[in-house]
Amino acid sequence: MALTEPPVSLLPFLPGPAIDRETAAGWERWRLTRHSFVPAPRPAVADYQRLSPRERKLHDLHRAATHANLPFQETPMSAAVAQIMSSRIHNNALKHKPTTRAGLLISGGGYQGKTETPARSPPRSPTSGLSCTATATPKMTCEAILGFYGADHKNMTLGQLIRAVRSSLYDHGTRVLLLDDITRLKLHREADQDALDLIRSLMSMNVTLVLIGVGIPASGLLREGRHDPRTGQWVFPPSKRGKSWNDEAATQTERRFDLVNLDPFRYDTPDGIAAWVAHLAGIEQHLRLFQAAPGMLTKGGMPEYLFRRTSGIVGLLERLLEDGCTRAIASGEERLTIELLDRIELNLGNVPGRDPTAGEVPPVPPPPAKANRTGGKRPRNTVFDDHGDHGLPAAAADP
Ligand SMILES: Nc1ncnc2c1ncn2[C@@H]1O[C@H](COP(=O)(O)OP(=O)(O)OP(=O)(O)O)[C@@H](O)[C@H]1O
Ligand SMILES: [Mg+2]
Repeated sequence: MALTEPPVSLLPFLPGPAIDRETAAGWERWRLTRHSFVPAPRPAVADYQRLSPRERKLHDLHRAATHANLPFQETPMSAAVAQIMSSRIHNNALKHKPTTRAGLLISGGGYQGKTETPARSPPRSPTSGLSCTATATPKMTCEAILGFYGADHKNMTLGQLIRAVRSSLYDHGTRVLLLDDITRLKLHREADQDALDLIRSLMSMNVTLVLIGVGIPASGLLREGRHDPRTGQWVFPPSKRGKSWNDEAATQTERRFDLVNLDPFRYDTPDGIAAWVAHLAGIEQHLRLFQAAPGMLTKGGMPEYLFRRTSGIVGLLERLLEDGCTRAIASGEERLTIELLDRIELNLGNVPGRDPTAGEVPPVPPPPAKANRTGGKRPRNTVFDDHGDHGLPAAAADP
């Protein structure tokens, strides 16, 4: 083995080379490996204590990796998106006629799972998935799609790019095209018409077009469309431009979209609260903290506290709990409490790959008042205390 090669086989829980989902090969690799992470075991406290310092460090690293890779969980909101996406894709795939396929618009606030939910949604549908980030202009969007397939896209006009996209989609048998962060596409002034024409063209390529974005109803995207109360769909009339690079300009028909919202959790109805608590219970099963009592996240004031800290946004919750677990291990507290979480400040300013100007960084509820905090004082490490029979936490039981 070369000296520079990391001993990945010894530490399989560490991430391998970064997976780039914006290429067809990367997407396929992600699809095949996304369930392969093996979470840390749950040794009894006594067994953990018997480990050598090095072994204990490795176990702690495995625990940290477990907390950094909390699994995607179905929520009522993600299930609704998955259901509509799956039935739309299924119906479109059964169509023989070369008519345009109805598309799907997935709208929501930042950090709410807009990317992950559809990426994981159509497990049974006859589709080759595709995701790419819509950037700035229609030309760049086409280039991103062609880049996804590794197809040539140098020095082409928009019309040529669109034809190349059509060939690539056809050659790869792509049935679903996920265009993420569509609200970054400049939908204003002269670029408007190009962006809408591009979307219209993609819809006549026999794929189910899924457009994902922050606050789609308030973006320019629906401006040209009208809501059809009969079908609940948004209808985009044919392009008004006489000279369009759209191949099918002559036979253009309306393009239709279902609009579905991916909302955060709510805490104002019994069902909403129950769904939130069920989500917390699901996460709790995956935490590896030695002093975690059952119900650590679901009992007492914790559900309401967590809701207040995150506004019910899954991504913020994941972030708060991951950071909380890191703190709980480092300090030796080995459990999450409101007091500990009060000391964690959520800061999304440093999350890569999110565009704050496109609304992708949600407003983070202000941190709890300073007066409530313990002033950052670290509590004593109690993992190695003798707790007798009662002290042995549930999470430290044998797997
Ligand atoms: N249902 C879920 N269960 C568990 N974790 C989730 C769920 N949905 C999303 N997450 C996590 O929340 C984080 C944010 O999700 P995602 O990136 O999909 O949000 P987004 O709405 O696309 O954000 P942005 O607007 O910035 O693009 C991710 O780390 C993701 O793993
Ligand atoms: Mg996203």
